[in-house]
Amino acid sequence: MRNFISVHDVDDVNALVEKALMYKDNPFIHKNLGANKRIGLLFLNPSLRTRLSTRIAANNLGMEAVVFNIDKEGWAIEFEEGAVMNGTTVEHIKDAAPTLGLYFDILCIRSFPSLKNREEDYAETVINQFIKYAGVPIVSLESATLHPLQSFTDLITIKETFAGKTKPKVVLTWAPHVKPLPQCVANSFAQWINAWGAADFVITHPEGYELDEKFTTGATIITNQDEALKDADYIYVKNWSSYRDYGKILSSDTNWMLTNEKLKLANNAKVMHCLPVRRNVELSDEILDGANSLVTRQAGNRVWAAQAVLSEIIAPIPLKGSYSRRIK
Ligand code: CP
Repeated sequence: MRNFISVHDVDDVNALVEKALMYKDNPFIHKNLGANKRIGLLFLNPSLRTRLSTRIAANNLGMEAVVFNIDKEGWAIEFEEGAVMNGTTVEHIKDAAPTLGLYFDILCIRSFPSLKNREEDYAETVINQFIKYAGVPIVSLESATLHPLQSFTDLITIKETFAGKTKPKVVLTWAPHVKPLPQCVANSFAQWINAWGAADFVITHPEGYELDEKFTTGATIITNQDEALKDADYIYVKNWSSYRDYGKILSSDTNWMLTNEKLKLANNAKVMHCLPVRRNVELSDEILDGANSLVTRQAGNRVWAAQAVLSEIIAPIPLKGSYSRRIK
């Protein structure tokens, strides 16, 4: 694996899940794999889980990890080719990225979309400019449109907890929020579940919240949440702003927040969320604090997802044994 930007960078999704679960069982099995290598974690936005889990994963592989809050501690970077830099930006990506590529063996980037210009956001300029100019492997810690480490984690969490004999029904449901949020987590979850191909996958949201079809094709899309939740084994809760009316909040309907009453429609479903979550707006206390919540397990699994990805980039190592389909 050269870069990790989306599910398309992964040859075998199931094998990568197995590798992550191997690391969950044996965190230090490859403690020297990354010896004498340095990873740069560059943040243009806040983060708790991504920042810490990726750093821990790198340390488990023996790598030195340096976190750089580039938005606060670095110069303001210009990403536009040919820009006349007479405004607020100080340093061009064509100069910053190759410099960082000399300092680090792998660069990981966290950026968010503007939510103002859909074409610009969906062009993924920030991550693509790093790929173009850094000269070292690039790992997305969330980009303008995707959050691949989160979605890989989500798949690990589903595979390690699913005890059924047939394929699970997985439902991605929109939930209300007070702020317009990116579509990244929802896009990415859809992309990974579709690529996995072993779930009955349903997406439910109010009218106007349709995601980009390039991520959702293959899923059943229903605007009646109760109908979507019927017999679900997993319910993934997430807010996103409108893709059609780009970046807008079109609904604040509190009936879309998942409650124990709604959970009765499902098949004793496990409930997932990437965190951070606005309690009692996006997801109720009773669900988050209840027995069906997987959110803390998901957050913990971020370490193993990152470790598997970094390990594949440093040196792919064949697996021995099988680690999935277990509930611990
Ligand atoms: N889920 C996630 O990416 O969390 P952070 O924003 O805290 O990294």
